[in-house]
Amino acid sequence: MSQLPLELPLTENVLALEGGCRERLSTLLAWDLDFHDRVSGYASHNFHPFPAKFPPQLPRLFITGLTQPGERVLDPMVGSGTTVVEALLAGRWGIGVDLDPLALLLCRVKTTPLALDEVERTGIEVWRRASRAVEKGRRDLEEELRHSFDSRTRDFIEYWFLPEAQVELMALAQEIDQVKSPPVRSFLWLVFSAIVIAKSGGVSLARDLAHTRPHRDLSKPFRSPLAEFKKRLRQNLRGLVEIVQKEQQASVIGGDAQRLPLAENSVDLIVTSPPYAANAIDYMRAHKFSLVWMGYPISALSEKRREYIGGEAIAHVSFEPMPADVMQVVADVAERDARKARVLHRYYSEMRRCLSEMYRVLRPGRAAIVVVGTSSMRGVDTRTQDCLARIGEEVGFEVAGIAVRRLDRDRRMMPARRGRTPASQIEQRMHEEYVIGFYKPEA
Ligand SMILES: C[S@@+](CC[C@H](N)C(=O)[O-])C[C@H]1O[C@@H](n2cnc3c(N)ncnc32)[C@H](O)[C@@H]1O
Repeated sequence: MSQLPLELPLTENVLALEGGCRERLSTLLAWDLDFHDRVSGYASHNFHPFPAKFPPQLPRLFITGLTQPGERVLDPMVGSGTTVVEALLAGRWGIGVDLDPLALLLCRVKTTPLALDEVERTGIEVWRRASRAVEKGRRDLEEELRHSFDSRTRDFIEYWFLPEAQVELMALAQEIDQVKSPPVRSFLWLVFSAIVIAKSGGVSLARDLAHTRPHRDLSKPFRSPLAEFKKRLRQNLRGLVEIVQKEQQASVIGGDAQRLPLAENSVDLIVTSPPYAANAIDYMRAHKFSLVWMGYPISALSEKRREYIGGEAIAHVSFEPMPADVMQVVADVAERDARKARVLHRYYSEMRRCLSEMYRVLRPGRAAIVVVGTSSMRGVDTRTQDCLARIGEEVGFEVAGIAVRRLDRDRRMMPARRGRTPASQIEQRMHEEYVIGFYKPEA
């Protein structure tokens, strides 16, 4: 089994850093945080596409610079698990929280070492049996397709998948479902999901699944799910080889970042990136394309979607009081669109609860790194980085600094630009991200 990756020049410099956590945090924020042209596909990082993933070097920098081996690193909105994978690779305990079912599956699989030969054997067997079922038992599969889903989910599948793709996906799903070992089964579900939700297309009729509202393209050439599964299985097995067997483990917890299921003062570092304001990336919109095959009804997924931070609904939301400068931004949006302003106030209220929870669970004298992009609402810059910094101060953090990093949009799946107008100043800012360094003072 191969040992730690690859390309660690940062680490040596980081290890030479001097001073306490606060000083080291300020020093790290002044480093080049762009990480363009860096290798990002090592270990299990590329098991599955995920929008707005961290470049792995970003959490790694702060993990190695601000914690010791054996300490606990939390990402309360863990997404695809980049922070937790890097924590494990660096010999720390990784804790990830998210409410998205696909993010949880992804993060668990990415951090679970498995016996390569067992996974390979089972994966090939699944593929072989599914191929045989398509060849010999097509009628049964069609029957299963008619009866396995409620009517709304069935309509969704009919709309987005060609009949031939449905048959092959059903055959694969049935075989994966029968795999006895839960971690191997999860690994294979993730392979399955990666052929449906793919950056460059996937086996559904959707185009732009990861970037924008997907649209159906009936002229999209048929791609056989069976053939894609076999290819993707090989690719993910290569990543599996690099998940290091270490004493440290990951805890991946289904939960809400606004109510963390963790004790106070129990983690040594937080590295996280919350969703953008106003749901600029709608995670569930893409994730339901594979989750329906795993047995989630469309109605349950739509219900879940309401819980995501940055959603558009404003009924039954608990709004928090905000610092004056944050309320000023909300008021600027309200001048143009009162409803949008409420949506923004909802986002800052949710983020206040998250920041307050992060403060509670972090040990005093330790840091929380929050990476955000800003948004444009009715032409007003939401100034997310400044507003979150102010809210963070209100809940007790000190702000050690806010660094800017330029996004490599070709590599990171980001929300697509709307409209055709030339890039405005605000749009320029959409190509940047902000790294807020919070510090929890000693008591
Ligand atoms: C920008 S992504 C994180 C990406 C991550 N840094 C990575 O490298 O993959 C934001 C995540 O926040 C999660 N999220 C949204 N609302 C949440 C909530 N209330 N509690 C926990 N996680 C939430 C989303 O499901 C999504 O996975």
